[in-house]
Amino acid sequence: MFSSLKPQPADKILQLIGQFRADPRADKIDLGVGVYKDATGLTPVMRAVKAAEKRLWETETTKTYTGLAGEPAFNAALARLVLGTAMPEARIASVATPGGTGAVRQAFELIRMASPGARVWVSDPTWPNHLSILNYLGIPVQPYRYFDAETRAVAFEAMLADLSGAKAGDAVLLHGCCHNPTGANLTLPEWAEVAAVLEKTGALPLIDIAYQGFGDGLEADAAGVRLIADRLPEVLVAASCSKNFGIYRERTGALMALSDPARREVMQGTLAFLNRQNFSFPPDHGARLVTMILEDPALRADWEAELESVRLGMLSLREQLAAELRDLSGSDRFGFLAQHRGMFSRLGASPEQVERLKTEHAIYMVGDSRLNIAGLNAATVPVLARAILSVGV
Ligand code: LMR
Repeated sequence: MFSSLKPQPADKILQLIGQFRADPRADKIDLGVGVYKDATGLTPVMRAVKAAEKRLWETETTKTYTGLAGEPAFNAALARLVLGTAMPEARIASVATPGGTGAVRQAFELIRMASPGARVWVSDPTWPNHLSILNYLGIPVQPYRYFDAETRAVAFEAMLADLSGAKAGDAVLLHGCCHNPTGANLTLPEWAEVAAVLEKTGALPLIDIAYQGFGDGLEADAAGVRLIADRLPEVLVAASCSKNFGIYRERTGALMALSDPARREVMQGTLAFLNRQNFSFPPDHGARLVTMILEDPALRADWEAELESVRLGMLSLREQLAAELRDLSGSDRFGFLAQHRGMFSRLGASPEQVERLKTEHAIYMVGDSRLNIAGLNAATVPVLARAILSVGV
């Protein structure tokens, strides 16, 4: 039977991890996979997470199964973090999932179940794994224009024009903040215009929010999600705790489905059913840490402070890189790096230039020229800036 299996295409982001590790050059720079790194190149366990783990170890008395939907306290705490405290609980159905990717996968399955034949509209470009999972599930994909390759900003008029072609029964995938891979984001007035188009077309918004707190702050980064959630009757939100809690390998996330309170029970049951079909009970360790941190004022304050310093650190690296490139090139054409938000920016280099950065300078970024700002530090910013110009970007 197994002889029928064909090699699967390598994940473009994850394959960089192996290539980088195998590179013997001491001065290599990893700007690939979306993992936060401090100035020494480490991905630290956040202080509040360490403290919560200690507390959990001391107080946990059983590891028996949790609920199919995960712990209600986790689902409620994460919903408040993402949707805000004003969102009526009666509208929210929610399940814990294995990370944000698990939430995205469950969302796609829910869409297919509720609307067989639905198209999922995705930004061009989007996180490659969105496309990979949609293709794997056989769900038709409809790209909408999003990024202006010239200005490296959102091509907003084109985006709106494309989205006006969506139909009731389709879903529109939006990035809640810190767009991956471009770093170019909607302003709040633009979110309102997107909401109006969604209202008009009747298409379902699915918002993937994986970087809350990495862009303009915890509240500001959720403002677009909250606006859509207030305006539209039905909304899906896939939230990840991997990045903002730094618990990547714990696989912690949730899928939230907002609907009419009269439909909430059926929705909650459907989400739990989908969990059961795919993996049964969701991972619990990370969810408990997140719950503890969000519910304990001291732990929460410490987590928020550390997250804010991570955010400001990335912002400062963006500004340093833009300034360095301005000085070296004598032009403002890299100013977009300081305007973008989150971990990523799409540089606008060609695949050949990205390859040269790797082979000639030991600088690794994704082939579409997405660079992870957090992979830099004060010493490597000038190295990168010189390399970018030397390959002719
Ligand atoms: C990324 O985009 O690099 C991250 O979301 C990690 C991943 O799973 O691709």
